[in-house]
Amino acid sequence: MSIIPLSFFSVLLLSFFISQTHAFSKPISKEEMGLKQQQNLTHLHFYFHDYVQGANQTALRIAQAPTTDKSPGAFGALVMIDDPLTEGPEHDSKIVGYAQGMYGFADQKQAGLLMVMNYVFVEGEYNGSTLSVLGRNQVMNKVREMAIVGGSGVFRFASGYAQAKTISMLDSSGASVVEYDVYVQH
Ligand SMILES: *[C@@H]1O[C@H](CO)[C@@H](O)[C@H](O)[C@H]1NC(C)=O
Ligand SMILES: *[C@@H]1O[C@H](CO)[C@@H](O)[C@H](O)[C@H]1NC(C)=O
Ligand SMILES: *[C@@H]1O[C@H](CO)[C@@H](O)[C@H](O)[C@H]1NC(C)=O
Repeated sequence: MSIIPLSFFSVLLLSFFISQTHAFSKPISKEEMGLKQQQNLTHLHFYFHDYVQGANQTALRIAQAPTTDKSPGAFGALVMIDDPLTEGPEHDSKIVGYAQGMYGFADQKQAGLLMVMNYVFVEGEYNGSTLSVLGRNQVMNKVREMAIVGGSGVFRFASGYAQAKTISMLDSSGASVVEYDVYVQH
């Protein structure tokens, strides 16, 4: 008589313990994650240097389709980048980060890129923090907008958008320079 309720309770206890340690999801408080005084809004401004050729090439075409060269939008080409981000538009301006990732030519009729990259910051309070960008970049347009889909470090829980404006196309250093204004909540 005394053994049955004991084993019953130990099974209950065990299943409680298991569900606690293997919980797939659980609600937590915003305070616990330091979210209460969060939702900072930050405007970042920098210049992106895409060296597609030359001695300091930072953008490499890693793949393309057999039909890419005949396509008006270079459809099917894929470029891997590790492009410097600087404070000013000059090539020797102070580096604040790098744009690491890829852009693919995703439009069959015109130059319309799929951008998939991380901004990896190396400066000041942002050193070591990243922002993740995913969006369409119709490069011949004056202003293009891409989504900031997340971040790490000081940019945890980030969301926002980036606006890109081309400053120069394929200059003597083999680079295109693009001005970025990024607005991010984090
Ligand atoms: C950024 O962080 C790295 C690694 O922690 C460190 O070596 C570097 O000096 C830092 N740079 C700046 C500008 O604080
Ligand atoms: C938000 O801004 C405040 C004031 O500048 C700062 O103390 C805090 O660390 C920031 N929070 C995040 C997550 O960056
Ligand atoms: C490549 O980078 C080096 C070092 O920053 C610089 O001295 C050189 O002028 C650059 N070359 C070109 C073609 O921009």
